[in-house]
Amino acid sequence: MEQHELHKLLDQMTLHEKIGQMTQIPGIFYSGLSAEEMALQPLYSKNILQGENLYKMGSVVAVSTAKAINEIQRQYLENSRLKIPLLFMHDAIHGYKTIFPIPLGLSCTWDEDLVRDVATETAKELRAAGIHVNFSPMVDLVRDARWGRVMESFGEDHLLTGKLGAAMINGYQNAPNGGLNGSGVAAALKHFGACGAAVAGKEYNTVDMSRREFLDYYGKPYEIAIEEEPKFVMSAFNAFNGMPATANEELMNDILRERYGFEGITISDWGSVIELINHRVVANPQEAAALALKSGTDIEMSSGTYLENCEAIIAEDPDLLHYINEVVLKLLELKNELGLFENPFADEVYESEVLLNQNALSLAKETVKQSCVLLKNNRNLLPITDHYQNVLLIGPFAKTQELLGAWRCEGKFEDVVSLEQGMQEVFGNRFLGAYETYDNCPLDVVAKADYIVLTIGEYWDKSGEGRSSVNLELCDAQKELIKTVNKTNKPYACVAFAGRPLALQSVIDDIPALLWAWYPGTQGGVAIAELLAGHDTPSGKLTMSFPRASAQVPIYYNEFSSGRPTSSSPYTNRYQDCEPGPLFPFGHGLTYAKLEYSDFEISNPVITADKSVVISFTVENKSEITTSDISILYIKDVISQAIRPVREMKKWSKVKLEPFERKRIELELELDDLSYLNVKLEQVVEPGEFKIFINDLSQAKFTINY
Ligand code: GLC
Repeated sequence: MEQHELHKLLDQMTLHEKIGQMTQIPGIFYSGLSAEEMALQPLYSKNILQGENLYKMGSVVAVSTAKAINEIQRQYLENSRLKIPLLFMHDAIHGYKTIFPIPLGLSCTWDEDLVRDVATETAKELRAAGIHVNFSPMVDLVRDARWGRVMESFGEDHLLTGKLGAAMINGYQNAPNGGLNGSGVAAALKHFGACGAAVAGKEYNTVDMSRREFLDYYGKPYEIAIEEEPKFVMSAFNAFNGMPATANEELMNDILRERYGFEGITISDWGSVIELINHRVVANPQEAAALALKSGTDIEMSSGTYLENCEAIIAEDPDLLHYINEVVLKLLELKNELGLFENPFADEVYESEVLLNQNALSLAKETVKQSCVLLKNNRNLLPITDHYQNVLLIGPFAKTQELLGAWRCEGKFEDVVSLEQGMQEVFGNRFLGAYETYDNCPLDVVAKADYIVLTIGEYWDKSGEGRSSVNLELCDAQKELIKTVNKTNKPYACVAFAGRPLALQSVIDDIPALLWAWYPGTQGGVAIAELLAGHDTPSGKLTMSFPRASAQVPIYYNEFSSGRPTSSSPYTNRYQDCEPGPLFPFGHGLTYAKLEYSDFEISNPVITADKSVVISFTVENKSEITTSDISILYIKDVISQAIRPVREMKKWSKVKLEPFERKRIELELELDDLSYLNVKLEQVVEPGEFKIFINDLSQAKFTINY
């Protein structure tokens, strides 16, 4: 359609139809629900989400497969007056049918290109299934592993989170073969803002922080990712600085639109408009609709509050009509960009060819390998060399195909390669078999084993939305299992499946080698087996600190030093009953290869607006193992007007190193990289000394001056 035709279509719409475009409902409402079934729907104002109103909606959420989507689209267009096709939106945050590692695992690859490719492949499967918008990437900064949704995040660093979020948006929207008019999907950045900072890591809990803290940390990933022009931003459930995000003028307009320059469409979270009543900032649905609308929430997800009340709201405040027209025109333009007016349907044959395609599966396998993090490897127990001819797999996750993690969208367990299957394939007759408990493993098998792989972690459904936990430790049965296997005195290594960092202080001394696999997705078992066998080496580095104990969270690398920096004295920034610092820090990750850093140089010891500083060094792979290496540059502002973190990650590089290969790495710091938000909320670089660290946070490599 031409632009003028879109304007003409807008002019033909009644106000009720315009508000319908700003309403999104679950697809189930098109299934001809009986009165009893409708009564069971946990949605507000269900009574108006039926009859002819169903054919005024703008979009539908949580419907999968081309068949189901086509059925709804067909029914809708047959009954709709103006025949404006529906948008279909869904949550494929780490894959649609081919499932990739959970985003927290993806972030440990530190690889923007890889994350973009994952998004491109996900978009291709989504569009083949008829889905046009993906509620992804989630770029909420996280520092508290009690929050179950850390699995959806890219970790505790705002720059890395923003860059990976931007890469994902690029992969979704600018997909090769035609972008949104081809195999691309619109991205919805979420959840604005700062829901990762919910007090005590408790789901849906309140967030309260200084504007400076938000702008310098929790909002920064949005500021960076919005440069990639996501089509949507989703508001968060939580209250932020005194107002629920969905009705928070400061967030949704001042910061998101004025400061960050977001020009797309905002959408509430599931029912977060009507939940304003629960926040007790409004007394009824009419007030909820009015407050959310006037605060800049364009689309209401999964409730009929807008549809039921906005005509009366606009009658009282006609100036709102201009804003309504703006929002609806953006929606018509997006539907046009997606090509929906010409072809609103998905092709079921094409869908069957695309889902679980070989390219997606091989990318998924490679991504698992780069997202796993080797946390410990005493005596180089990993990889499991040919010296070991009888490898036994034990543990609660040894046989399961439930390796997809939360938010698995259309991912099916039957498509997953379990660790048992993977080890069977990779170790062949060296593999003795898999047993879910030590007790059901025959004694002669244990006796024959010369190496044990032990699976530990948390069940996949213990992470995700509504999964905040107070206890981050392994369950007692797994603690027992570790002790039992340890007593066999056989060489062994642990593979951990989890959606979050766990608190391992009480068991870590009994674990000689530990590979953290997160929730790896469809290709998990074979990719992990290949890492265990040494076909490839782990190369991931942690993006979220691992606490020693559950109560040690929130814990993060870029903390402030306080007036009594942590030391052995009890009268410093520490706990009396817990060793200081994380068990495994941000940036930690081992490899099977032997890497050596040397020849550190700095281009100039003084940085100015016109003269950047280049830090260079050589990384040498002194082994016969091909590996990737992630080098991370941190700064420390020695003296600043306002407090600054003890370390600030500013640059990183990732290179592949063939056996015995050396590469020269160059990381460039520009003056703006040294800036921060001072107490007057000015982005400034203050004159003085800055320490430069490469990977090792204890030893500065250089000092530069500004
Ligand atoms: C959920 C989540 C959000 C998701 C939405 C639609 O409650 O908070 O991340 O995109 O509803 O499923």
